[in-house]
Amino acid sequence: MDRSAFSQFLDDLRAQRSSVSMDMRAAFQADPQRFSRFSARQGDMLLDWSKCAVDDATMALLGKLAKACGVEARRDAMFDGAHINVTEDRAVLHTALRDPGASGPAIDGQAVGKDVASVLDAMSSFAEAIRSGKARGATGKAITDIVNIGIGGSDLGPVMVTLALAPYHDGPRAHYVSNIDGAHIHDTLAGLDPETTLIIVASKTFTTVETMTNAQTAKRWIAQALGEKAVGHHFAAVSTALDLVAAFGIEADRVFGFWDWVGGRYSVWGAIGLPVMIAIGPQRFRQMLAGAHEMDEHFRTAPLSENLPALLGLVGWWHRVVCLYPARAVIPYDQRLSRLPAYLQQLDMESNGKSTSLDGTPVITPTGPLVWGEPGTNGQHAFFQLLHQGTDIIPVEFLVAANGHEPELQYHQDLLLANCLAQSEALMKGRTLEEARTQMLAGGMDPAKVEKLAPHRVFSGNRPSITILYRLLDPATLGRLIALYEHRVFVEGVLYNINSFDQWGVELGKELATRLLPVVEGKESAADRDASTAGLVKQIFDLKER
Ligand code: F6P
Repeated sequence: MDRSAFSQFLDDLRAQRSSVSMDMRAAFQADPQRFSRFSARQGDMLLDWSKCAVDDATMALLGKLAKACGVEARRDAMFDGAHINVTEDRAVLHTALRDPGASGPAIDGQAVGKDVASVLDAMSSFAEAIRSGKARGATGKAITDIVNIGIGGSDLGPVMVTLALAPYHDGPRAHYVSNIDGAHIHDTLAGLDPETTLIIVASKTFTTVETMTNAQTAKRWIAQALGEKAVGHHFAAVSTALDLVAAFGIEADRVFGFWDWVGGRYSVWGAIGLPVMIAIGPQRFRQMLAGAHEMDEHFRTAPLSENLPALLGLVGWWHRVVCLYPARAVIPYDQRLSRLPAYLQQLDMESNGKSTSLDGTPVITPTGPLVWGEPGTNGQHAFFQLLHQGTDIIPVEFLVAANGHEPELQYHQDLLLANCLAQSEALMKGRTLEEARTQMLAGGMDPAKVEKLAPHRVFSGNRPSITILYRLLDPATLGRLIALYEHRVFVEGVLYNINSFDQWGVELGKELATRLLPVVEGKESAADRDASTAGLVKQIFDLKER
């Protein structure tokens, strides 16, 4: 769509926003059908955006915008294997990873399905061998612990999924080391026995400095305890760079590959998911893939007006671009999704935190919001004050399961659900000055005190939130949830007119760190750095104890 047509849409949407009654309390009172008109389902997963300040006209305009921006055409191009990652000239086919039975689209004349299935089969055999004790450590002991060394997409997905699927975890314990800070690997290995530990080095490029440094440290840990020859028994790798893995010394039958058409932050579905597969078993891993595939099919085929990822993306874009809200909070009322906000930070902010549009010119709207969050109910006792009464409006996304995995703790689950519903209700309804006064007077408070305190107890309300409700956090549901968010980020990226699949913004810091290492080591002078950096280096040397 050309810029003037897009600007016209933007003007219409802004006008629409000013004309819409922003009083959501009144909107619910006036329209008993509001919930059913602004909610949609995929299977047992419900998306409720009725507590956002939109009406039928808003949704109709957003739907037209999506069509005019080519959301469906771009979606189809992605599924077909077109090189939609234009700045890296790559296809974007993580969706093929969760459809291992299909032949899949062709890349360079070759259907990807066969490769996907064969890596999945190899991972499954390896995972089963570790889980069953068929594959053992160098001294003949079964593997009790796996340590995944990776960062970013080679860490956040597996960490998040391992925690989320704890009730299904019946394999070796899984640990994750990502940070270059030596404390991370030190504290992780400190509790482990080298004889019973398997290290998985997970890196798409096999060059990431954090991962390679931690991998070398782990290699020394194994070699010092068990001898050089033991290393092969205690390592496996996941990478697209098979030559670099071989040079590191990991045997080919313990290397699981993937391809440049799988972005790091979209990689948990393939070999990067190996630690998850060892933890929960291949069958449950495949259930997670099947769940994601179900959401892919829904995204691919459902009309936009019933399409959960499209709707989530359109409302997210509306909040960011038309309402100009700078952030979104993701609050899972599901303790096992405690790392979902961190996972979504990479998925969303690395994908859509861009300022250059597809044609190389500066973007003409704000792009991806700040994404943050913590599980409820904990967040309620920390930052919810700001969500309810702060000067910025931050849309909140609540995620909650109707059922917990602990039937004996049903009262906990009921309290969790009540709290989740209460928060979205409070954000929407708020409390007027009159209501605050009435409540305090009814509680017997002195009227003079009531007048003083009432303004502090006012909640403006009208604060938008979305709720995603599902039956139970099982592997298939988790797969659907992650795919829902992936495609939402895709939809928003199309509307921002950016490439959601590169990440050039992480490069400069990496380059400068490489150049600063010899300075910090004292091998080069800091004199040619800026005054702040040079001053900090000097202070480091003043404080350094070794
Ligand atoms: O620094 C960003 C990044 O490139 C991410 O996109 C990626 O997930 C992460 O680093 C790790 O990269 P690799 O898997 O190549 O080690």
